[in-house]
Amino acid sequence: MSEIRNIATIGAGLMGHGIAQLFAAKGYNVLLVDLNNESLDQAIKNIRSNLALMADNDIGAYKDIDPVISRIKITTDIAEASANAHFVVEAVSEDLELKQKIFKNLDALCQRNTILATNTSVISITQIASKAMYRDRIVGTHFWNPPYLIPLVEVVRGDDTSDETMDKTFSLLQAVGKHPVRVNKDVPGFVGNRLQHALWREAVSIIEKGIADAETVDECIRFGFGLRLPILGPIENIDMVGTELVLAIHEYILKYLESSPEPSPLLRKFVENGDLGFKSGRGFREWPSEKIEKSRKRLQKYLLEAIKKGDRSK
Ligand code: NAI
Repeated sequence: MSEIRNIATIGAGLMGHGIAQLFAAKGYNVLLVDLNNESLDQAIKNIRSNLALMADNDIGAYKDIDPVISRIKITTDIAEASANAHFVVEAVSEDLELKQKIFKNLDALCQRNTILATNTSVISITQIASKAMYRDRIVGTHFWNPPYLIPLVEVVRGDDTSDETMDKTFSLLQAVGKHPVRVNKDVPGFVGNRLQHALWREAVSIIEKGIADAETVDECIRFGFGLRLPILGPIENIDMVGTELVLAIHEYILKYLESSPEPSPLLRKFVENGDLGFKSGRGFREWPSEKIEKSRKRLQKYLLEAIKKGDRSK
């Protein structure tokens, strides 16, 4: 296979429709697969409204929406989608057995040099690939939601993934304007979610111990070191302040930080009481509908502006 032109996306839900949109917007032919036509029709509606929102914000143009949509074909037949695909992204529900079945199937249906990628958030790539014969072409591509706005994709090497698969996947993601990174070991949480949940565990623990309330924890990040994070990662920050200073801080503080291997009892209690956050109107904080709307809009506006500003690597 000299060139990747045809993409298949298996699963047209929250992530799958966004991944299909991303490739179609960059001129690739996309076959989008789901279990029924209702899900697929809804996916196309969602893509149209995402593209309109982006055009409203001067990212892309209204005149390009129909051409993008015309590059996406929908089907419930995975065999049809696989036949001519050069690159397949699986984004079905997070269920190991289902994913193993789909990869075994894709492995049998696709041409030998087609790359098969999974968008799993947490499951081992090696386990997902374990029922397939040609495991060298199976790789993790962990997109972040929404995949057409967040630049990062973690390209995760399973135990059997070949260098060629890693390199081609990396190049393809660069070609569609993403910011791929290499994850060299197939570990739970890859890199992004390990970092994110280390922070969230401490955030919950601070509330549980009565050190500060929920609003304060969020404010400490949003108005404090969070302002630096989009431009300064923790490692560059360590070098900036000096490794000897960070060693001294860690020698003092690490024993006081949360290190429980179990989820917080407070978090468990919220779930048991039905306090599910936005879904029920209450979680750690109270969420009347106008506050939910405001929070969602604020995030959307921030992400759109960040995308417009573009490259953060310089
Ligand atoms: P979702 O539930 O919105 O979509 C899953 C879709 O897969 C549904 O439309 C379902 O009908 C379809 N599906 C199920 N079995 C299928 C089959 N056999 N053939 C074809 N389609 C099938 O789930 P979501 O959130 O899009 O997640 C998909 C994957 O992406 C999961 O592995 C998830 O862990 C991962 N992920 C999710 C993120 C998120 O923020 N939601 C972020 C990054 C990764």
